[in-house]
Amino acid sequence: MDQASTLRKIVNSKAAQMKKRAALAGRGRDQNEAPRVMAVTSGKGGVGKTNIVGNLAIAFARMGQRVLILDADLGLANIDIIFGIHPTYNIGHVLSGEKNLAQIMVPGPEGIRIVPAGSGFVNLTQLTEGEKLSLLSEFEALEDAFDIVLIDTGAGISSNVLYFNLAADECIIIATSEPTSITDAYAMMKVMSTQYNAKCFKLLVNMVNDPNEAKAVFHNLSQAAERFLDSVLIDYIGYIPRDDRVAGAVRNRKTVMELYPQAVASKKIAQLAGEIARMPRRLDTDGNIKFFLNRFLNYRMGA
Ligand SMILES: Nc1ncnc2c1ncn2[C@@H]1O[C@H](COP(=O)(O)OP(=O)(O)OP(=O)(O)O)[C@@H](O)[C@H]1O
Ligand SMILES: [Mg+2]
Repeated sequence: MDQASTLRKIVNSKAAQMKKRAALAGRGRDQNEAPRVMAVTSGKGGVGKTNIVGNLAIAFARMGQRVLILDADLGLANIDIIFGIHPTYNIGHVLSGEKNLAQIMVPGPEGIRIVPAGSGFVNLTQLTEGEKLSLLSEFEALEDAFDIVLIDTGAGISSNVLYFNLAADECIIIATSEPTSITDAYAMMKVMSTQYNAKCFKLLVNMVNDPNEAKAVFHNLSQAAERFLDSVLIDYIGYIPRDDRVAGAVRNRKTVMELYPQAVASKKIAQLAGEIARMPRRLDTDGNIKFFLNRFLNYRMGA
């Protein structure tokens, strides 16, 4: 089978998935449903993405969800540290064909599985077409094994980060009330909406002292989006309070949910996970994956 027909197959299977999801809409979750893929991202670094991914993963796992984390963050304070894990292999070994995705996965707490990115994702745009294809089909193979996939994308608007944000069903942007964080969150939405036609974003405000501080961040961003961006919708999903026990837990190579379940941040994250789980899944977002694949396909066909 040539690469173009393999891609077409992937696109068609995505289309079938969309139909299945559409049929399931209104009926709640179903065992056979494709996993919900959420990218957790930010414009500015250090706003809490990795901690939010790790803690949300724990919260979802405690709700009985089968959770996979894709650690696509090449920063230093990554998932390895907060889960106290030491991965031997990374996505680079999948790309080279030495291992498949299932073989490089590392078990985390509470049944969570982690796919370490390592240096394998240094520059996705430089992957060969064969590598892109094998990666895409490896991910297709995981469809039935997980309910939720959380992607810790790393900060900024590099092509790597954008790739994950566009491919995910939902893109959760993390911001704090720091002006640079707000400006960078806006920049992220601007690039994704103007260059890639992504119009829906979820906003989660971290490290706030009170709910009003979080709402102010939301108003700031939504006003800017309304004025300057075309049809962008920002869905405010909530906030996580500033809580010293988040960092305290990390120092012990644990998440705050594990070490301090009674901490305000832990309770808020558990509540947030419940709310996210109850939010209806968007049915149109496979368009993003399809869009990406189609672009790739058209590029090949049109070349
Ligand atoms: N709600 C919170 N309250 C207090 N401290 C927090 C909170 N969330 C995160 N932190 C702290 O902020 C710092 C940055 O968090 P984290 O590493 O999760 O951010 P990040 O966005 O993943 O960073 P990077 O962009 O470098 O990957 C850490 O020291 C973490 O302990
Ligand atoms: Mg991080």
